[in-house]
Amino acid sequence: MNDMFKIRKAEPDEYTEIEKIFEAQGLENTKNGVEIFKGYSVETLNKLIGGAEIMFQDGEYTFSVAVDDDYKSQGIGKSLFQLVKKEIRGLGAKRIMIQAKVPAYWSKFGFAEVINLDDVPKKFRCDGCSKYEKDCFPKIMILDL
Ligand SMILES: CC(C)(COP(=O)(O)OP(=O)(O)OC[C@H]1O[C@@H](n2cnc3c(N)ncnc32)[C@H](O)[C@@H]1OP(=O)(O)O)[C@@H](O)C(=O)NCCC(=O)NCCS
Repeated sequence: MNDMFKIRKAEPDEYTEIEKIFEAQGLENTKNGVEIFKGYSVETLNKLIGGAEIMFQDGEYTFSVAVDDDYKSQGIGKSLFQLVKKEIRGLGAKRIMIQAKVPAYWSKFGFAEVINLDDVPKKFRCDGCSKYEKDCFPKIMILDL
């Protein structure tokens, strides 16, 4: 990643701004039932340009990442994921489960699609959502650590 960007633990007062970036990038912001929660900021020249959140929900570790449009394809998403993966592993997790909106991106990092949704905790599944396969085409994916 370019040295111009700094990734660090988010300050509590930055969460609103990070979540605005998530929203602008089309990510939902539901924290119902989330147990462990950690946030990270990406900053350049005192401007927040991306972030990541780690969550523990329904017995599974998961995360979200988003990068502002003007700063995409510069390796920021990759750096955020590397940090998230290290942190999740440090929490003792054996795997990471995601609701992947860009499955092709995550398969580059070793995530594989879950074919049998019976293996996925109910709250984690997207098939009850009104946007599912209308406006949003996510795949549930897993990375074994
Ligand atoms: C997905 C996202 C986080 C990637 O961030 P980024 O900083 O642009 O990604 P990187 O620069 O690390 O990309 C690394 C590689 O993935 C590729 N890539 C980026 N977006 C991709 C996509 N949607 N599908 C497939 N490959 C993708 C890049 O071209 C790059 O390839 P290269 O290393 O061969 O050059 C960013 O596009 C984003 O915020 N998207 C909207 C929110 C979102 O969908 N988040 C994920 C929720 S599951």
